[in-house]
Amino acid sequence: MTTAQAGTAQIAGEAARRRTFAVISHPDAGKSTLTEALALHAAAIEAAGAVHGKAGRRGVTSDWMAMERDRGISITSSVLRFEYGEVLLNLLDTPGHADFSEDTYRVLAAVDAAIMLLDSAKGLEAQTLKLFDVCRHRGIPIITFVNKWDRPGREPLELLDEVEQRIGLRPAPLTWPVGIAGDFRGLLDRATGTFTRFDRAPGGVKRAVEEVVAADRAAEEEGEAWTTAQEELALLDEIGATLDMDDFAAGKCTPVLFGAALPNFGVRALLETVCKLAPSPSPRLDVKGEPREVTAPFAGQVFKVQAGMDRAHRDQLAFIRVSSGRFERGMTLTHAPSGRPLATKYAQTMFGRDRTTLDTAFPGDVIGLPNSTGLIVGDTLYEKRPVTFPPIPAFAPEHFMVVRAKDNGRAKQFRRGIDQLDGEGVVQVLRSDVRGDQAPVLAAVGPLQFEVVAHRMEHEFNAPVNLDRMEYTTARVTDAESAATLAGRRGVEVFTRRLDGALIAVFVDKWRVQAVQREHPEVTLTPMLAAEAG
Ligand code: G4P
Repeated sequence: MTTAQAGTAQIAGEAARRRTFAVISHPDAGKSTLTEALALHAAAIEAAGAVHGKAGRRGVTSDWMAMERDRGISITSSVLRFEYGEVLLNLLDTPGHADFSEDTYRVLAAVDAAIMLLDSAKGLEAQTLKLFDVCRHRGIPIITFVNKWDRPGREPLELLDEVEQRIGLRPAPLTWPVGIAGDFRGLLDRATGTFTRFDRAPGGVKRAVEEVVAADRAAEEEGEAWTTAQEELALLDEIGATLDMDDFAAGKCTPVLFGAALPNFGVRALLETVCKLAPSPSPRLDVKGEPREVTAPFAGQVFKVQAGMDRAHRDQLAFIRVSSGRFERGMTLTHAPSGRPLATKYAQTMFGRDRTTLDTAFPGDVIGLPNSTGLIVGDTLYEKRPVTFPPIPAFAPEHFMVVRAKDNGRAKQFRRGIDQLDGEGVVQVLRSDVRGDQAPVLAAVGPLQFEVVAHRMEHEFNAPVNLDRMEYTTARVTDAESAATLAGRRGVEVFTRRLDGALIAVFVDKWRVQAVQREHPEVTLTPMLAAEAG
């Protein structure tokens, strides 16, 4: 084998053993707890609380984090990387609050699979539905985990029915609960027929002792609860609720597991399912629709730019998902949009809030590049063979504010701050000749995004701002010709999105959109990606 062939084989092998995924859930369904439980199994962390710094266990290291803590939301996101057997898992964290769903969307652009986490007492909730829609849009395969089975909740069959009826995803349970919610006995493995007994370990997330019991002994010991579970399983067999891998890959069928993240029960089975079923990185299509093989020279895409993560660093970090090739720290990459070379001497990996130097990375991995000015969300980076990946689409904004510097003497800081927040995708910045650059319009999916802008403009860029709410609620993408027709109409205004030059028409409400369309059927008004689940 030549050195080049050996290099290619290594990249293929490393890509094949990687699983890059995220957890989607409604706040409080147990995402942080599950993340810790998964990492504990993989022995990646020593104690619960290390990942998210819950309950102040790790203290507060920046104002930024203080804002998150006060509001009980997670704004910053990080990547957990851990090994389980031969498999290397990259778990990408997503912000929990609905107002930051655009951030979550970008993270979902960088994963190959998602765990849909449900609270057993609540089933599908608003935020889960919204995020599921994003997964469907991107064709991401979903593994479902029904959490909190240790306490009273709903009937398992009813929960499965809800998944099928409301989101059209065919559930295929891999494990099945024995005993009713609140009197939970354990989990039946559908493939082997064995029973894993639930033993409540006191005090938080621990690696649970999981006693595996043969079917006949379980039948004897669990009595009626066992019989009921068997009857339910027979029903599932009858209706064909079994896993079809093609349908799973196509996002039409979901393997379902039950468990409880807090006492860490059923989490090992989930981890093993991710290793076994979640796809490894596959060739990514570029803007021309051509696949970039995972063994091609390095290519990756910026899916997130995050600043102010830690006061000690006071920097910005661009997160890049590797699509192809081998990354080595120090190599020079090309920034596709500008053709400029980009040094990677300071490449990092993120573990929860900690960062360490990263020397090599393979497809599926996430690289952090600090202080790479000019990198914005969606940018492609490559080595040797040029490639450009399709942009990550923006959500349709529903809130609009005019932003002005409080102090005119700070125009420079103001511009720098707005440019930075625009590039990070914190908000979309819209401009128009009529309004001028001193008073651009900020567009957001959720109002909390404006709070982030106000906070950062003041504390990070030293340019406090005034924000004035506008009456608009609906945005459409338009073109120059249509913009001329729309100009001067009441309840409509056309802007140029600064980042990509797209023409965006904003309307007071959707009825105004319909009225314009009735009057001028020739105008182009393309809906943007909806943040609301349909
Ligand atoms: P999130 O990140 O999705 O918002 O949820 P998080 O993990 O913070 O969990 C929300 C609450 O649900 C927490 O309780 C957590 O302990 C609890 N929880 C998570 N998984 C399970 C489970 O399997 N069984 C039970 N019974 N509870 C679970 P909390 O009281 O709000 O917070 P904390 O003080 O325990 O951190």
